[in-house]
Amino acid sequence: MESTTPAGAPAADPARDAARDTESAEFDAVIAADGRIEPRDAMPDAYRKTLVRQMSQHANSEIIGMQPEGNWITRAPSLMRKAILMAKVQDEAGHGLYLYSAAETLGTSRAEMTDALLAGTARYSSIFNYPTPTWADMGAIGWLVDGAAIMNQMPLCRCSYGPYARAMVRICKEESFHQRQGFEILLTLSRGTTAQHEMAQDAVNRWYAPSLMMFGPPDADSSHSAQSMAWKIKRFSNDELRQRFVDMLVPQAEALGLTLPDDGLRWNEQRGHYDYGDLDWAEFKAVLRGEGQCNAQRLAHRRRAHEDGAWVRDAASAYAAKQATKDAARQEVSAA
Ligand code: 3HC
Repeated sequence: MESTTPAGAPAADPARDAARDTESAEFDAVIAADGRIEPRDAMPDAYRKTLVRQMSQHANSEIIGMQPEGNWITRAPSLMRKAILMAKVQDEAGHGLYLYSAAETLGTSRAEMTDALLAGTARYSSIFNYPTPTWADMGAIGWLVDGAAIMNQMPLCRCSYGPYARAMVRICKEESFHQRQGFEILLTLSRGTTAQHEMAQDAVNRWYAPSLMMFGPPDADSSHSAQSMAWKIKRFSNDELRQRFVDMLVPQAEALGLTLPDDGLRWNEQRGHYDYGDLDWAEFKAVLRGEGQCNAQRLAHRRRAHEDGAWVRDAASAYAAKQATKDAARQEVSAA
């Protein structure tokens, strides 16, 4: 039967449509069975798109997240603290590499993702737009920010997209070192002089609420959660993970001898969780609009670092081209 269609519409192709239906059914079956989608599997364009969005944002966060702590490497109070902080910042760079590489399996290059970040059109986590004025911030970032990251990333080890889930397994192991070293910095300061205790409390006061907002907007305002959970990219909602984090923080803060700056914090026997105070979502939205305390500084630093590193990329490309020419010549000789 000859296909007739309105001008411009693709000709009906029953065989192609049947193939697409099979692919879609196979994808749905893998998701329903809690299986893994791999790079070569057929997947809905929207699934691919939201994974590139989330994974590149995650990778961007790791790279930008090096700045607040890198700021203190030259000013760490001891050689040991300097060594630990350097190791942590290097870990973040590696996490960014894993995640960019995992995202590249979806067909978007690392250069495209980097260009989007440098252009200010790609997001990174809101949390990295806050300043780090004292050494105690290194403790608060480790305990609160990396602690929140672990809470958010552990479920991602069971994400339906294989490369992302596998990247998360190794990242989460390193994050637990990050969180423990932060807790230990705060514990040392909290048990130190009055001035040190006050510095630790001041840092917790500044980082507590922004770390809760890392988990994303309230579920009612989360535009991606429903679909991401249906596709088992997200295993828990923003509010569920935020609640787990608060429940974990309270006893740890007591062990630290520090106070969480939240008048709404109280145990709710009925819910079996801690109630906590309202968060400033206007501040969160302002940070996402680029109006946070450090947004401009973080992007300017990233752009400068990218420019400064151009010679390394050029040298690596020139070396790769030279090697390719040599390999081709060798193959010609061996084929002759
Ligand atoms: N910072 C910046 N943007 C955020 C955000 C945050 N903390 N939370 C949400 N958003 C954005 C979303 O990207 C989305 O933007 P869009 O409308 O432009 O697409 C919008 O706000 C709506 O949020 P949703 O809840 O609908 O978005 P998601 O379903 O993607 O959930 C998320 C947000 C929970 C952060 C999820 O993206 C996620 O789990 N990402 C992976 C983990 C991650 O990025 N962790 C944070 C940083 S990594 C880190 O901390 C490193 C550590 O070593 C220190």
